[in-house]
Amino acid sequence: MRYQPSLPSLAFVLLTAVSIGASAEFNAAELDNEQSGKNWLTHGRTHSEQRYSPLNEINAESISKLGLAWSVELPDARQIVSTTLAVDGILYVTTSFSIVTAIDARTHDVLWKYDPQVPAHAGETLKLLWGTSRGVAYWNGKIYVAAGDGRLIAVDAKSGKEIWSAQTTEPGGHFYVTGAPRAFNGKVIIGNGGTETGPARGYVTAYDAETGEQAWRFYLVPGNPADGFEDNAQRMAAATWNGEWWKHGGGGNAWNAITYDPDFNHIYIGTGNGSPWNQKIRSPGGGDNLFLCSIVALDADTGKYRWHYQTVPGETWDFNSSMDIVSVDLEVNDRVIKTLMHAPKNGFFYILNRANGKLLSAEKFAKVTWASGVDMKTGRPIETAGSRYEDGEVLIWPGPAGAHNWQPMSWNPNTQLMYFPYHDVPGYYNDTAINLTTFQAKRHELSTGVSYAEDDSPADSGTSGLMAWNPLTQQVAWKHDNPGIWNAGTMTTGGDLVFQGLADGQFIAYRASDGEKLWEFDAKHGIAAPPITYEIDGRQFIALPVGWGGGLSMMGGSIGAQHGWQYGRHPRRLLVFALDGAANLPPTPPPMMVEPLDDPAFVLDAEKVATGKTLFVRHCVMCHGPGAVAGGGAPDLRGSPIMMHREAADGVILEGQRMSRGMAKFSNLTTTDVETIQHYVRERARATLGANASAISK
Ligand code: HEC
Repeated sequence: MRYQPSLPSLAFVLLTAVSIGASAEFNAAELDNEQSGKNWLTHGRTHSEQRYSPLNEINAESISKLGLAWSVELPDARQIVSTTLAVDGILYVTTSFSIVTAIDARTHDVLWKYDPQVPAHAGETLKLLWGTSRGVAYWNGKIYVAAGDGRLIAVDAKSGKEIWSAQTTEPGGHFYVTGAPRAFNGKVIIGNGGTETGPARGYVTAYDAETGEQAWRFYLVPGNPADGFEDNAQRMAAATWNGEWWKHGGGGNAWNAITYDPDFNHIYIGTGNGSPWNQKIRSPGGGDNLFLCSIVALDADTGKYRWHYQTVPGETWDFNSSMDIVSVDLEVNDRVIKTLMHAPKNGFFYILNRANGKLLSAEKFAKVTWASGVDMKTGRPIETAGSRYEDGEVLIWPGPAGAHNWQPMSWNPNTQLMYFPYHDVPGYYNDTAINLTTFQAKRHELSTGVSYAEDDSPADSGTSGLMAWNPLTQQVAWKHDNPGIWNAGTMTTGGDLVFQGLADGQFIAYRASDGEKLWEFDAKHGIAAPPITYEIDGRQFIALPVGWGGGLSMMGGSIGAQHGWQYGRHPRRLLVFALDGAANLPPTPPPMMVEPLDDPAFVLDAEKVATGKTLFVRHCVMCHGPGAVAGGGAPDLRGSPIMMHREAADGVILEGQRMSRGMAKFSNLTTTDVETIQHYVRERARATLGANASAISK
């Protein structure tokens, strides 16, 4: 065809000219500059994801003068788990349902608010949306928002106006997005979640940062061989699967960790667990099931496979490698090795060579019983017999919450230590009640292929702490106990400090070198997000969004509920600290436990209670919590007046009266279904009141 100059191509030339003009100010090299502490430009501050800032005005000596400088209320926010970005004097805070608030760091004014209207866009996907969003990316004057419903949206960083939007998942499908996009080399990349809510084949997609055009996509597990493989990496992966895995999707969804490495032009993807969890169903007879639970290195320009390292071959416990991947140039005997460090759910701390994925170290950092160690010759774990629940129910450490989850870790180049929250929480695994041959995951329902989340998780199910790990000695340098098990990620600075927010609302600073506790501040609400630091007019600030949230605030039952952060009861805020800061926190109610309601006239029907429980586990447990104990991310139905009344309950559950606030419409359920769920919730409420009463009379 003869080339015809057309209007669109002229428009393209003009657009390119505009963006070249803008990029003259934008210094992409800043994203790789560990020496400048002015900004916090990407999820892990710089491409390395070290979350280390060289700023040292606030340091182990001056910290006694650290105080609240100012705060902003974030009333729309439900849960907050995100990393704030600080770009040239503007803070970008992401809260529930991917709402982004841009705040002038000098005047503290809200410059703009961008609400992608996730509940209105989500359709059936709303049934799966916790509202979690771990933050945004920045590139060349644009902020990139990953909306929970699967859209990736570019907005103007100055005005908050939408520039482009790309649908990265099937609209209304069972994939959703909670992770932060990453921007590199003029591209933006995002993964997705949805491994346990239908047959899921995970992938990551990179888009052109200026236009939103898809640049490349990489599938994390192979598809049906009959459809042909996308490339040789998929062919290689397929040889590690059995049966008709594609009918189950396979999994691998990359919902969190993505790291760009300018040294090798690699993108590292931390891949997810199996879909369904139970390997006997998805790949009968075993197999490694690549690329589940792996770090996969891709060429950043083309998305082509470079290397992989699998932390858990034949994953079957909801273990994944979705925890952050940190690039560290490690000095060993006067040599510098370009490594990456990774502490995934499975409880081992890994060091790999970034050039080729070779395993350099793998040591346990928490209680681990599923494997005794990692064979350094083969790089494979040495599994414990019985762990695969082949002999019936087994209790193993860690469980699905992992020994470390998405809460980010930070690396301090001065102390050569890695700081991260860990937890020792086991999991029961059992598939004796499941038909392994006929099991098929259902879309938009919790379907894992094991018996899961059927009863409450007691508040004392596990313990947790903050750990400083020395990768060279492969040992803990120091650690502190944390409350509960769901504590926030860390930041470390050139002031010899490590900061961490806790589930009970305390924000704490430790001396990075020896772990001595130096400072604390009561934020009066559970902290789930990591702090950041930045500099304005020569002064160092620390910003921390406060608001309980994340997986265990939804599915943790009493583990999450124990801190008393009931849904919507406590103000959500951005707190900003500086030396000589003298602001006061506005009034805040104290923690409060849910008070279940009971109607003595309500007659329980044992059969309805049992049916209601089954429905609750499939449709409601993901947000309202196991045993109907909500962790604070959604209302506790035992104390809900709406759940006391049939018609009111039908209005919310079947008619979707609260959809705009994130409670989905369950048009696939009937009034009889709602009645049985009501019986189950009433039974749970009465059981709690009975237990409380007997505790009081003792
Ligand atoms: C994906 C998360 C999610 C799932 C799954 C979910 N809900 Fe909700 N639900 C919410 C949220 C969030 C709210 C609070 C909405 C608001 O602020 O009004 C809510 C509110 C409610 C309320 C109103 C409570 C009150 O007192 O205000 C009821 C009743 C309810 N849900 C019942 C159910 C039932 C029954 C199921 C299962 C069939 C279910 N929900 C599944 C997230 C969820």
